[in-house]
Amino acid sequence: MDKFIITGQKKLSGTVKINGAKNHALKVMAASLLTDQSFIIKKIPNIEDVLRMKELLRGVGCDIDETKNTSFTTKKVFNHVLDKKIVPRLRSSVLLLGPMLARNRKIILPHPGGCAIGKRPIDIFIDGFKSMGVKIKENFDHYSFGINTPLKGCDFIFNKISVTGTETMLMAACLAQGKTTLINAACEPEIAALAEFLNKCGAKIKGAGTPKLEIIGVEKLIGGTCEIIPDRIEALSFAILGVATNSKITITNCCTDHLAVPLNILQQIGAKMIITDNTITTLPHGPLLAKDIATHEYPGFPTDGQAPLTVLLTQAKGISFVAENIFENRFIYTDMLNKMGANIQILNQQKISIKGKTRLKGKNVESPDLRAGIAMIIAALIAEGQTEIGNIYQIDRGYEKIDQRLIKIGADIKRVK
Ligand code: EPZ
Repeated sequence: MDKFIITGQKKLSGTVKINGAKNHALKVMAASLLTDQSFIIKKIPNIEDVLRMKELLRGVGCDIDETKNTSFTTKKVFNHVLDKKIVPRLRSSVLLLGPMLARNRKIILPHPGGCAIGKRPIDIFIDGFKSMGVKIKENFDHYSFGINTPLKGCDFIFNKISVTGTETMLMAACLAQGKTTLINAACEPEIAALAEFLNKCGAKIKGAGTPKLEIIGVEKLIGGTCEIIPDRIEALSFAILGVATNSKITITNCCTDHLAVPLNILQQIGAKMIITDNTITTLPHGPLLAKDIATHEYPGFPTDGQAPLTVLLTQAKGISFVAENIFENRFIYTDMLNKMGANIQILNQQKISIKGKTRLKGKNVESPDLRAGIAMIIAALIAEGQTEIGNIYQIDRGYEKIDQRLIKIGADIKRVK
């Protein structure tokens, strides 16, 4: 298994360019199944989750041409059984439910399985597609979804906000018969971006980016060209890295509008930053102050920034509290931070306390999920001595060439087999 070896406390400075958003690219790629014409998608990040999604799409009949711009064309769905080797490794496989049911009226989904951050159930997806007339059977190792007619538009209320649940039902509704209303939908900017593009392809979607969506089903969609929006979570990860290492780092090609709350919280902790529409420059700062943080659906503080922020709070004077309100098991990395010298208490499944400021020492750690992985990298960059981070496939899932980009700003990081 590959690992990173990092020697901490190097002076960092320079520029980091943000890539296209993983959590926008994966959705547009899945949506390409909705039409037999081509989706040309620009600025797709070159990360493991994108490679897995390409494998999954090719497996159902999508032709992907990467000679010039990357185009996705599914003239015909020739297989409705998703690859059982890929689905458990790619939670976003569930996105294919919508477009496959809209286009092909049936799909076999191997159990997606949980992951490090939680069980990751799909009850919302099952309720949602039942409301559209889909028959669903759960077998011991897969779900089968099927309908003999076109999907039926429906009024669906999300009892719990689900990002991919919103997105996959939105895609299905584009080609359903009649009108679909989605209430308590997720409001992430990637959803608004997806809807804006699908409307250019002939869909009739209103309200994307707000808790209420109205979609009028149409006969078919045409192809189009989509440019992936900047990755707000990658930008936040690098901003926290810059603050935590007390460095002057300029983060370019980001959309700071999508980060209003997290950037405001960083400033309240004591971060010094110059923020423009599409750049963030972190500057050396004075003592950091403890803070109470709670993760929240967009536009609140994102759960994907929770682990990196916790590393930062180990460097803040006083006792901080972090409440994780989205996933039920997203503090698993804290014992490794404590091994490095942090003083974190797990108060309950949803809440931790962090007593700072603590010196961190390099240790051998693992990367349980991609966001805990970048958090371990940040911890290693501020720790004394050498840190080894294992299971870095998890980091490569969401951060393109992270080692090369860190070396460019002065980090001492090596990728070893
Ligand atoms: C998306 O995951 C993101 N992934 C996640 O980013 C992100 O953390 C999450 O939204 C929350 O913002 C992608 O967009 C590919 P949810 P998603 O459905 O859609 C529960 C990353 O690091 N739930 O909004 O899978 C669920 O267990 C990843 O890039 C049900 O109970 O998350 C969670 O507690 C990690 N039943 C809550 O809802 C369901 O059927 C929110 O999950 C579905 C979800």
